[in-house]
Amino acid sequence: MIEIRPATRADAQAAFDIRREAIHARCIGAYSREDMLAWTAGELSPWYADLVERHFYLACRGNEVLGTIMLGPQPCELGALFVAEQAMGQGIGRRLVAHVEGLAREAGWPHLQLDATLNAAPFYRRCGFIGDTPACYQSPSGLALRCIPMRKAL
Ligand SMILES: CC(C)(COP(=O)(O)OP(=O)(O)OC[C@H]1O[C@@H](n2cnc3c(N)ncnc32)[C@H](O)[C@@H]1OP(=O)(O)O)[C@@H](O)C(=O)NCCC(=O)NCCS
Repeated sequence: MIEIRPATRADAQAAFDIRREAIHARCIGAYSREDMLAWTAGELSPWYADLVERHFYLACRGNEVLGTIMLGPQPCELGALFVAEQAMGQGIGRRLVAHVEGLAREAGWPHLQLDATLNAAPFYRRCGFIGDTPACYQSPSGLALRCIPMRKAL
């Protein structure tokens, strides 16, 4: 059974590992291999661990972390949606989105917005997000990646 719960700092390494795995599994193809390796280079940093501790929710089966999502840090912002490769296609991404939509409604946020990777935009459309104009996402490490800003009214 899949459970969704807030992350703790102890989950930071598992969340970081799923991010790398999901990007390597699905984003290479929509982007160059070089860009994806650069995007996922390096090790878990205190900055990422802080984000996990403060803003992440995890999909878990028992003690196993299968997916991550981030609500915030800015109001109305959704990010860091990553599902472990072996767990993709089982509805976990959709459940994580629905979970944080509920939290955002409770917080009184009027909408959710995100920068979708090119490969994930069709998934977000299935979840009710709209947007199809490409833009440029600037990663914290300085990498510029094409993305699609999307939004869903709550
Ligand atoms: C995008 C991602 C989060 C989807 O997670 P998932 O658990 O595999 O998706 P789900 O099983 O919940 O799929 C929900 C629906 O979206 C569809 N879907 C999922 N990925 C899709 C894709 N790439 N293209 C088209 N449809 C997709 C599913 O078929 C399903 O459709 P349904 O409504 O008919 O049931 C996952 O593939 C992933 O981690 N990708 C790599 C990382 C990434 O790009 N993250 C987004 C960053 S913005």
